[in-house]
Amino acid sequence: MIVTTKTLFEHAYGKYAVGAYNINNAEQAMGLFQGSIDSQSPFIIQISKGARSYTDKRMLEAILRACDEIFPEAVFAVHLDHGDEKTAHDCIDSGFYSSVMIDASHDPFDENIAITRRVVDHAHSKGVSVEAELGMLGGVEEDIAVDEKNALLTDPNEAREFIERSGADSLACAIGTSHGAYKFSGGQGLHFERIEAIQKAIPGVPLVMHGSSSVPQDEVARINAAGGKLKEGAKGVDENQYLPAAKLGVCKVNIDTDGRLVWTRVHREFFQSKPEDFDLRSPGKVFMAEYAKFIASRSLLLGSAGQLESVRELAKSK
Ligand code: G3H
Ligand code: 13P
Ligand code: ZN
Repeated sequence: MIVTTKTLFEHAYGKYAVGAYNINNAEQAMGLFQGSIDSQSPFIIQISKGARSYTDKRMLEAILRACDEIFPEAVFAVHLDHGDEKTAHDCIDSGFYSSVMIDASHDPFDENIAITRRVVDHAHSKGVSVEAELGMLGGVEEDIAVDEKNALLTDPNEAREFIERSGADSLACAIGTSHGAYKFSGGQGLHFERIEAIQKAIPGVPLVMHGSSSVPQDEVARINAAGGKLKEGAKGVDENQYLPAAKLGVCKVNIDTDGRLVWTRVHREFFQSKPEDFDLRSPGKVFMAEYAKFIASRSLLLGSAGQLESVRELAKSK
């Protein structure tokens, strides 16, 4: 059952976070749906610009419509991840997306507001909600001095003005995370005092955490033991911090890299142990089962496990 992102946020706000997972193919979709059902959790499917062009944007839409039939119990929203303005308008017009992200955070403040406002006006006229981004998410790396790091985090006063002027429904904030598998080699983690200040500045506005993969070190070690060459020792977000962040209004936790690590580990180990095999379905089956297990484990950490029935009731009452 496809629901609005707004409904998922209304149900989760201040209590738990909804996992938002990127998908590119049928195997990822099957694992995601199965793991969400196993953990009785609602979820958000994210489609990036790259995912839309990997096969064809119609392919992903067809896969998701099929999954909706294969897993009639599932409750989920469909979201454009890191959209530019053109893609955001295209997704709004498609009628398939519950929400879109317009990522204009690299533009100056006023320009970010103007671009976001245009997308918001179009989206709201079609019942679609909008996630915008404020702050330098990828820039908060360990080589930067603490003062500089704090300056790159989302400023609470700017967040208030941004939401008022742009009309965005939710806000992706720079709160100490960055994208990819090489996040922190030092002790850096989430800046809870900043999340709290942002929540106070824009109470009730769902906050979004990008770059939320935990980059499990045992996963990296297994990949490397099976022939991979990933940098070891770079930590992701402490998965035990998802729930404390959720209590401060972080409703959406974006996880992509960790899923890619599951895929890489499964395929490397599979072909290393079965070098004579060439049936793509054999590792594909293992991946779907392993990804489902991973998703169920995230639902528990996010606090979204067990919320399915109650979200469905809320969605039906709309
Ligand atoms: O934050 C971006 C997501 O990990 C999507 O990555 O643009 O390579 O599909 P992608
Ligand atoms: P990770 O790849 O670091 O998990 O980030 C995902 C993300 O933010 C998608 O928008
Ligand atoms: Zn992101």
